Amino acid sequence: MGKTKLTFIADTHHYSKTLGISGSAYERRSATDQKCLAETGAIIDAALKIISQSDTDALMIVGDVSDDGERASHEEMLEKLYKFKQKKPVYVTLATHDWCCDQNARRYSGDEVFHDVETVKHTELRQMYYDFGPGEAKAEFITHLGTSSYKIEFPNDVVLLSLIDDQDGEGASGFTPDHLEWIINQIKQEREKGKLVIGMEHHLLYQHISPLLSGHGLCCGKHEEYIEKFCEAGMRLVFVGHSHMQRIDSYTSENGNVLYEINVGSLVGYPAPMVNLSITDDKIEIKTEHIKEFKYNETLYNENFLKNHATNIITRTLSLAKRGQKEEYIKTLAELGVKRETAEKLRPVLNAVGEFVTRTSVASFGEFINLCSFNNPFEKSDLKQLKDKKIIDIVNDCFLSLLDGALTKRPEGSAYYNVLTSFSKIPERLVRALKIKSEKAVFLSAEFENLIWEILSGGKIDNNYLLIDRN
Ligand SMILES: [Fe+2]
Ligand SMILES: [Fe+2]
Repeated sequence: MGKTKLTFIADTHHYSKTLGISGSAYERRSATDQKCLAETGAIIDAALKIISQSDTDALMIVGDVSDDGERASHEEMLEKLYKFKQKKPVYVTLATHDWCCDQNARRYSGDEVFHDVETVKHTELRQMYYDFGPGEAKAEFITHLGTSSYKIEFPNDVVLLSLIDDQDGEGASGFTPDHLEWIINQIKQEREKGKLVIGMEHHLLYQHISPLLSGHGLCCGKHEEYIEKFCEAGMRLVFVGHSHMQRIDSYTSENGNVLYEINVGSLVGYPAPMVNLSITDDKIEIKTEHIKEFKYNETLYNENFLKNHATNIITRTLSLAKRGQKEEYIKTLAELGVKRETAEKLRPVLNAVGEFVTRTSVASFGEFINLCSFNNPFEKSDLKQLKDKKIIDIVNDCFLSLLDGALTKRPEGSAYYNVLTSFSKIPERLVRALKIKSEKAVFLSAEFENLIWEILSGGKIDNNYLLIDRN
């Protein structure tokens, strides 16, 4: 019985230390990013070491290889990949952050941000990464940007289509009509030969979790059309990145085929996933492992560092909204894309929210809501079990759960599960009690309940383990 094992990582966003790793401007950027900056090289090295020593046959990188298309970041990343390639093959799908499509590559010195960083053009990428895909391709499509989609064959009748979906020619991510036709033809051709077809592209085809979170910004512009066509043609799995959230969902096409979309989280932020795909003659198994520690500047860091780095976006922003740190607060929100005027208006609101969530315990909040009589949504015994938790702890837990695909199990019936699901129903109860007729309010309240359930449970499919029949 043959076995093919492939390992997928995504959004390595390698950041060259030459772009600056100290000073207030750098610290601010780092503190507003879920993923790391200075530490990316160390995390990538830790992952490459684990993968090179494992029994996997090849490594795949699902886009956003560099932080923001900086030439220095690409050059360092290529050095790492060439070193890794001495042990195992690597196949790369490039994406918008690899040619800095938003023209916002930055370097940092003291309190200043500089925009004079040399970036790589999209027309250069195919040649730069020729040895990590196109050079071994059995078929290739060159896009209007000069970038490459290509096909790789593996033993055990497995075929990989690496698809670059940066622009559809109509202002969104996706494929031009001729590119789409090439992809469909490749899938059909390989299926007719009895091959297992696996896709790899950066943007999402399936709207995971909730439209409140993974809306059109994360998906390809025409994602519904693409997923139906890919699935109908016979693609079985597609690996995507971009959202930085770990997720598995399935899609059934009109002709009854099933396609699994595996959204691989960012390697350089919590939960630092490496997704292993094992294919035998009759089974497909997907299993996520995580970087548990990495060495940076002679210090060993574990996953708590990555967790704190991620939740720092919430806790630091809320604490800055307090009086006395106005300029740092404005600069921090600017880093998050919020204009000064809006940041100033938001400040009293964020200050109040910050005070409330950091000071209020889950138990006292629940008791207050019960007193307000929404039919006593919270069980006293559940509240008692969470008496040591502040609301901010739950907010941070939920954020981490979103990123890791609900690794920490909160079983149905547990106090944690009961309190959060009861909380999620409050907006809908309010809409009903106040007889609000607005379609938007009805939709948002229902979607909020669904979102909390998705965060708590991880959805219908385990996001970190899947075992299915090959056919
Ligand atoms: Fe990314
Ligand atoms: Fe991305």
